[in-house]
Amino acid sequence: MTTDYIAAAKAVLARNDRGGYTLPTDRLYPFQWNWDSAFVAMGFATYDVDRGCRELERLAEGQWPDGMIPHIVFHQPSDSYYPGPEVWRTHNAVATSGITQPPVFGMAVRVLHERGAPHARIRPLFEAALRWHRWWYSARDPEGTGLVALLHPWESGSDNSPAWDEALSRVPTTTREPVRRKDTGHVDPSMRPRDEDYQRFIHLVDTYADCDWEPARQWAAAPFRMGCVQTTAILLKAGEDLLTVAEALALPEAAEELRAMTARSRAALLSRWSPGHRRFLIRDLIAEADVITPTQAGFLPLLALDLPADIRDAAVAEMRRWMQGLRVAFPTTPADCPAYEPRRYWRGPVWPVIDWLLAAGLDRNGVPELADALRSSVSRAMETAGFVEYFHPGTGEGLGGQGFSWSAAAYLHFRSLSA
Ligand code: SER
Repeated sequence: MTTDYIAAAKAVLARNDRGGYTLPTDRLYPFQWNWDSAFVAMGFATYDVDRGCRELERLAEGQWPDGMIPHIVFHQPSDSYYPGPEVWRTHNAVATSGITQPPVFGMAVRVLHERGAPHARIRPLFEAALRWHRWWYSARDPEGTGLVALLHPWESGSDNSPAWDEALSRVPTTTREPVRRKDTGHVDPSMRPRDEDYQRFIHLVDTYADCDWEPARQWAAAPFRMGCVQTTAILLKAGEDLLTVAEALALPEAAEELRAMTARSRAALLSRWSPGHRRFLIRDLIAEADVITPTQAGFLPLLALDLPADIRDAAVAEMRRWMQGLRVAFPTTPADCPAYEPRRYWRGPVWPVIDWLLAAGLDRNGVPELADALRSSVSRAMETAGFVEYFHPGTGEGLGGQGFSWSAAAYLHFRSLSA
């Protein structure tokens, strides 16, 4: 890689551009992915606000009438990915998957607004985000707890995280059609979820397709339903950001609605703190049990809460403990956990966008040295190994897909903060 890393990061985004939307990486992920594109939009915001808006506009083309913004928009056919539209069997006008992904979109709307995007571009994006947040609270929290639930591990973006192991083991492995994976033809299978995980992932897709993708029917039929602290933290932060935009655009009714949504999630998220574990815990809503398996999700609430000093200090001490002896932080599973696999997708590796969110949370809570340590550790890893999908925490080895858009976007974002 050239030593002009900023130019190299922009070149990754240019290479993955397919006409206003950006692939996460060619072949492995040949469509538009939801939270990838929100991070990419913020990466573009550092040098091309218009293109950043375009990224979100293209994603919003896939929004469903009920407000959901799906996790994949299949703008153009490709045979290099499974499961494609024929497996999802959704009824949307634009071909999409049937589940969603973490709502980073609202965070990107605020960034683009503050970088000077015209109101005429921001207003429709704001409306799309607000409709999606309403969907989250009705479809994924029908009981009004404030903690939103995931009905599929892919909705977390952290697909095969050990946090899902126990709940996923209760999901049958039967599928309507045989599973025909393509991902393991693009990257080493030892870096990807296992075949058994895929069978359960597709069993869930079949279950929800059989519900005609109708949220209430899915909720009732779901064999997997997880109250997620990572997703709720992102929803809460995005809600706060949309509230800022609503005030700037003088939209008092929307602002009021967002205030109510964020207040509900703030209380719910704080209640998930576990002093004994020194992190926030995911809730398995079917088993009615806390998930104590340690993953990065336990610290994501820093992003959206102004924590009391005792909670903040305990969470930070636990984060530092996980980081001991590592070359690159922050690990998605700590090395002393039996489930730790430092080369396998979400079971240990470091992901630049997770560092982005955790560092923002540490800054918010008055711990800028640790925030800087995360950003510089993963930035150095990218400068050494390239803008790959993720990194081995112990060695810094670059893993997964190459030329990865959201890694490049994270790098651009980090460099813009230190400029
Ligand atoms: N991340 C999943 C995949 O690997 C789906 O979003 O295909």
